[in-house]
Amino acid sequence: GEIPAFSNFPPADFTIQAEREAYPEAIAQWRTKLNAQYPLFINGQEVTTDDTLDSYNPADPSEIIGTICQAGKPEIDDALTGAKAAYLDWRDVSPKKRAQYLLDAADWCKKNIHKISALQVLEVGKQWDQAQADVAEAIDFLEYYAREMIRLGEPKRMGVAPGEDSRYFYQGKGIAAVIAPWNFPFAISVGMVSAAIVAGCPVIYKPSGLSSVVGWMLTEMFRAADLPAGVFNYTPGRGSVIGDYIVEHPDVSLIAFTGSMEVGLRIQQKAAVVQPGQEQCKKVIAEMGGKNAVIIDDDADLDEAVLGVLYSAFGFQGQKCSACSRAIVLDSIYDRFIHRLREAAQSIKLGPSEDPSNYMGPVVDKAAAKNVLRYAKIAAEEGNIVVQREADDKYKINDACYVPLTIVDGITPEHRIAQEEVFGPVLAVMKAKDMDEALAWANSTRFALTGAIYSRSPKHLERASREFRVGNLYLNKPSVGALVERHAFGGFKMSGVGSKSGGPDYLLQFMDPRLVCENT
Ligand code: NAD
Ligand code: ALA
Repeated sequence: GEIPAFSNFPPADFTIQAEREAYPEAIAQWRTKLNAQYPLFINGQEVTTDDTLDSYNPADPSEIIGTICQAGKPEIDDALTGAKAAYLDWRDVSPKKRAQYLLDAADWCKKNIHKISALQVLEVGKQWDQAQADVAEAIDFLEYYAREMIRLGEPKRMGVAPGEDSRYFYQGKGIAAVIAPWNFPFAISVGMVSAAIVAGCPVIYKPSGLSSVVGWMLTEMFRAADLPAGVFNYTPGRGSVIGDYIVEHPDVSLIAFTGSMEVGLRIQQKAAVVQPGQEQCKKVIAEMGGKNAVIIDDDADLDEAVLGVLYSAFGFQGQKCSACSRAIVLDSIYDRFIHRLREAAQSIKLGPSEDPSNYMGPVVDKAAAKNVLRYAKIAAEEGNIVVQREADDKYKINDACYVPLTIVDGITPEHRIAQEEVFGPVLAVMKAKDMDEALAWANSTRFALTGAIYSRSPKHLERASREFRVGNLYLNKPSVGALVERHAFGGFKMSGVGSKSGGPDYLLQFMDPRLVCENT
């Protein structure tokens, strides 16, 4: 039948008792499965390996969420062999039929939304509402890309020349390697994987080692959707062992990556070198980091601006590529803003994300905690600490990954804390003398991902729309929380190459256009 128009899946509503009660229940359910082993999934079969990696709860590292089999080179070869065989049929399955698998997958997610969200609370320390937003985003990707493929799947008649029938259509590029981050562990993985699959490209999917049990949920999802063998392969493994191997493999046609700038640039370099036996130029889609700014104009509504900055900087502990790590505040409102920001930051609760009254929880793992502490120290050396708050000692059990919430001011563009992505709860505040300086500073990093401005001046908003040069700019809204389609997402400069996820050009990257012209 007719597929209804796309609309975003609604956010969690914890005023509904059943929604509230679902989390403790689903979390308890996962606790009955601690230490479970998760296999690889290759060409329709579960495969175990001797090498395994534990994934732990950052709020209590003694809790092992799962032990995940790790693909080595032989397993990657097997997955690629299966994917290569699957490609021959999959590329010619009709776009409508391919889309239907995504719609079935979306239905599975809707039925399992609390299960997948609760797992994120335990595996990466995500707050309930943010975890549910991640699954909602995954549902949106599935629903949106299904419709997009149906739109693009219709061959287009080109030109009107008499005696000629010219048709323009698309074909999946080949095998896609999807290499994903841990911070939106379900949504970003589902987005990249489903785009490839619906476009006609079989996938080998490497989740981050920090969120591989969430990654396993994609296997459950595609099994439930009855996807043909070899079209989706789950191959977690160590970046250091299989990262380059996957990227350089001659059978991989496309790499869809989301993660840090360092790894993204390395992938682009490696993928550019043609390997023996390679038949195709490799395409790289790389979504990388940010150093996002929020500008506070002197006529901003401070109630909104303070909450917006707080949420953008410290939601999910600042571990979003879209997070605000720089607040650029106009001189004449500076004292009032910083006073309000300090009060607000002092009042939020810090502690395990499992308790929904906590605003900020632990960062994702011990290495991330160490990195954030290093930057908190740099911040203190470069500026003046405005707020630094720790979670209560009672939460610091078994080397739990808590780091202080840090706000530092007296920062100018030449400081490291104004340039380098921390990926944690460290906010640099910068005092700008006027809108010219604020905009210049906002644009002064090598990144161009998200940004926001709080202002009541239509002229300044209009100017920012033009001159605040980032992929996603929000006027009087936080810099985080993009929704599929409405806020098609992605940046440029060193924030990435490729067009916006959840937007109208995204699927085109996974396909080669073909033209057939008949002399009639
Ligand atoms: P990361 O770069 O450390 O890891 C990303 C993935 O790359 C992981 O699966 C990792 O195992 C893999 N990897 C590591 N070394 C590799 C290699 N040599 N070859 C191939 N793959 C390799 O990033 P992360 O810590 O998982 O995620 C955080 C980063 O991701 C931040 O920089 C953040 O800004 C960025 N990010 C960007 C977006 C976006 O849309 N622009 C979205 C989310 C996260
Ligand atoms: N899409 C995510 C956000 O906007 C990264 O916060």
